[in-house]
Amino acid sequence: YHHRQPYRTSYHFQPPKNWINDPNGPMIYKGIYHLFYQYNPKGAVWGNIVWAHSTSTDLINWEPHDHAIFPSQPSDINGCWSGSATILPGEKPAILYTGINPKNQQVQNLAVPKNLSDPYLREWVKSPKNPLMAPTPQNQINASSFRDPTTAWLGPNGEWRVIVGNKVHTRGLALMFQSKDFIKWDQVDHPLHYADGSGMWECPDFYPVAKTGRRGVDTTVNGKNVKHVLKVSLDDTRHDVYTIGTYDVEKDIYVPNKGSIEGYSGLRYDYGKYYASKTFYDGQKKRRVLWGWVNESSSVEDDIKKGWSGIQGIPRTIWLDASGKQLIQWPIEEIQKLRKNKVTLTNKVLKKGSTIEVKGVTPSQADVEVSFKVKNLKKAQILKPQYWENPQVLCSQKGRAATTKGGVGPFGLLVLASNDFKEYTSVSFTIFKKQSKYVALMCSDQSRSSLNPTNDKTTYGAFLDVDVDSEDLSLRSLIDHSVVESFGLKGKGCITARVYPTLAIGDNVGLYAFNNGTESVTITKLTAWSMKKARIN
Ligand code: FRU
Repeated sequence: YHHRQPYRTSYHFQPPKNWINDPNGPMIYKGIYHLFYQYNPKGAVWGNIVWAHSTSTDLINWEPHDHAIFPSQPSDINGCWSGSATILPGEKPAILYTGINPKNQQVQNLAVPKNLSDPYLREWVKSPKNPLMAPTPQNQINASSFRDPTTAWLGPNGEWRVIVGNKVHTRGLALMFQSKDFIKWDQVDHPLHYADGSGMWECPDFYPVAKTGRRGVDTTVNGKNVKHVLKVSLDDTRHDVYTIGTYDVEKDIYVPNKGSIEGYSGLRYDYGKYYASKTFYDGQKKRRVLWGWVNESSSVEDDIKKGWSGIQGIPRTIWLDASGKQLIQWPIEEIQKLRKNKVTLTNKVLKKGSTIEVKGVTPSQADVEVSFKVKNLKKAQILKPQYWENPQVLCSQKGRAATTKGGVGPFGLLVLASNDFKEYTSVSFTIFKKQSKYVALMCSDQSRSSLNPTNDKTTYGAFLDVDVDSEDLSLRSLIDHSVVESFGLKGKGCITARVYPTLAIGDNVGLYAFNNGTESVTITKLTAWSMKKARIN
């Protein structure tokens, strides 16, 4: 079975078969985590969308349930699209989601649990008043670009507010609605925020983050101790971008920090494949947790052959960096329960052009953490201005990870490498000098990941601010058969990649540290673990 299904994951969330996309309505209710997700019960391509449902007590092991929300009334007869959960006073969960009506218009609907004493909240009933928000000739809302309601928050006037993604020409908007009772929703006369030229805003997410520390805060919290984050999924570029800013409750608008943009060159949760993500506040562990959809990079034909498409990334705890300029993301601590067979290397010098094999772990199902120190930064190349906005281009330069070009790096990990190195994925850093500072270019290079020519092997890259005197150049990769989720500089930069090796499977796969720069680097510490299989669905 495994031979025929080498790309199924062992600890990333996926159902037994068929298509999945966005995570929906994540929440914790009475100690049980819920994940709903966009699902096609009939095949491995997008269509026939329902909300599939799984629950967990640790965000790692998941139990499946019957579909929670599926077409059953005119306001959702052509599909039950993305949405979010809000826990109403009295511990009452409510879901707002987008329905596709008989005219193929996008409208917003409400569903609530049928039986609050069922710990799994297996059955959901829809409001007879649906749709609660809909395009009309009066409001002039574009019926094909009106979707994905967020978790609602309470405004200072005691009324609920929610935003819904929208587009007018090429302007992306977060339309805002308010309600006293969660049923009758009125459109606020202005959007929470918008940006010209950014295109449709799918799956918006709007939440506060504490100014200091890693603790999460409930979605309704505001005031001088928090900043706000607005994340949107840009349909045009397929990236989840965010800004950090202030929620001005007087004017009821979101104002991003100076200089931040919702666009291609703005901040991204992940510089690889990661989309339609959504956070929730986990009151049990006082943290904010991020879920994101990781699509395939294989051909549709291959997806149909293997019978499935799409996984969810490992949930990440998310908080504001001490600089206040970006978010930090780190795999939830529970993932460490799956670690076994710990292997450690310390103080190993990697001379130019050398590799070290990490033995003793299962290379296709592993968690690796490594820190590097660079002795001689004088040899760092100067970052040419033409690349300042183009990390991906720099990472993609042909043969860069395979040959020596001079400078500090690339050095990092070779993962899912076949024994003859005909296949490998490299996750690396290269240190550049940019004016008076250093920057770390983080790359995930898939160009040699598979001999199958039909895969999308795009290389991904990001620039990370680094203080080379005080910071270790650390890298963590979660490797799980066809996914490599990498976290640079303790979560300052994340890159998720899908890869489909044809040779580097089974016993023919290795894990290595490497250095292709001209300068030596030292592995101060490398720790790797095999990962146990999680019980998923
Ligand atoms: C994002 C998205 C949402 C929509 C859903 C449909 O991937 O297009 O905007 O609600 O997927 O499945």
